[in-house]
Amino acid sequence: GKSGYDHYMLKEIYEQPHAIRECLRGRPQTIDESITIDELEDLPRPERIHFVACGTSYHASMYASRLFRERGIPATAFFASEYDVDAIPVDEETLVVGVTQSGETADTLAALRDAKKVGAGTLAVTNVVGSSAARETDRVMYIRAGPEIGVAATKTFASQQAALAMLSSAITGSCSREFVDALRALSDQMQSILDDSSAKEIAEEYVDSDAYFFIGRGYNAPVALEGALKMKEISYKHAEGFPAGELKHGPLALVTERTPVFPLLTSDANYEKMIGNIKEVESRGAPVIAVTDAEERVEPLADHVLRIPKTDRRLTPILMNVQLQLVSYWVANRLDRSIDKPRNLAKSVTVE
Ligand code: F6R
Repeated sequence: GKSGYDHYMLKEIYEQPHAIRECLRGRPQTIDESITIDELEDLPRPERIHFVACGTSYHASMYASRLFRERGIPATAFFASEYDVDAIPVDEETLVVGVTQSGETADTLAALRDAKKVGAGTLAVTNVVGSSAARETDRVMYIRAGPEIGVAATKTFASQQAALAMLSSAITGSCSREFVDALRALSDQMQSILDDSSAKEIAEEYVDSDAYFFIGRGYNAPVALEGALKMKEISYKHAEGFPAGELKHGPLALVTERTPVFPLLTSDANYEKMIGNIKEVESRGAPVIAVTDAEERVEPLADHVLRIPKTDRRLTPILMNVQLQLVSYWVANRLDRSIDKPRNLAKSVTVE
């Protein structure tokens, strides 16, 4: 049941600290600060990685491909429905990773089957034991998020990102004490966000807006897309997410005092550029709700701040997203939407 929550979605948002602990169980090693994924012990280091996925799982794949590239393996995220082995170089040296919560998404299964046909190695990163993706690929890594009933993916996105972050350490051998400690701290940090978030008040203040925009750079860019997808799915409101640098190349024309903008702002190399983007939207009168780990200089620029604790710069999206989930949930709740079963959507999409 919903254990006292009004919706499965809210319950599953609150289950994230537990889901992350389960995802990590036995994987980060205390003795040598490495990460081991038992199921993948004999996985050779691939020349390149292609992620194939849809929707929220695609956003997790975008995140992962950046992390692999930074750690020295060329990696690209593809929409599974656009993965065409005749037009994309893929061979025996390529590892094709299907990221799929359900393990039953038709587009993702088709991409994995095509990849296998041309000799690529295949790996499923999935939540569902014994799913089609798990059965049909060479190897499988489970994200261990537990059953997700709400149609909107929430805890499974967090677990996918954590699993893929660990996968990148395991495959590339790049890890550190700091990274392992940061992974281990995530669960409690998520709990602190859930305990203190002012997302509900912000949702109430901006529930009548024309549209919602989410912007981020680097590791936070996929979360900007995910924030918008979640908002659309469950509130039926117009929402868009994009890499913050793209704002001035078109979307800025849509920004008004009736379109709140959510910048995802971390104290990293992108900080100054993000501040520039905030000024761009602020001067058009848009309400600014910063999701940030930065204390300094944000308050005067933003109308509201949704805080996240400090973490490794590669793990910020996992925490940022919790605040965005809550904003979408409370907007949809105020609008009395069918949150767990949004119109026109299904939990697993078994047609191409
Ligand atoms: C969004 C959502 C969908 C799924 C997509 C892929 O909240 O749930 O976008 O992420 O249909 O599903 P899986 O991960 O099961 O392949």
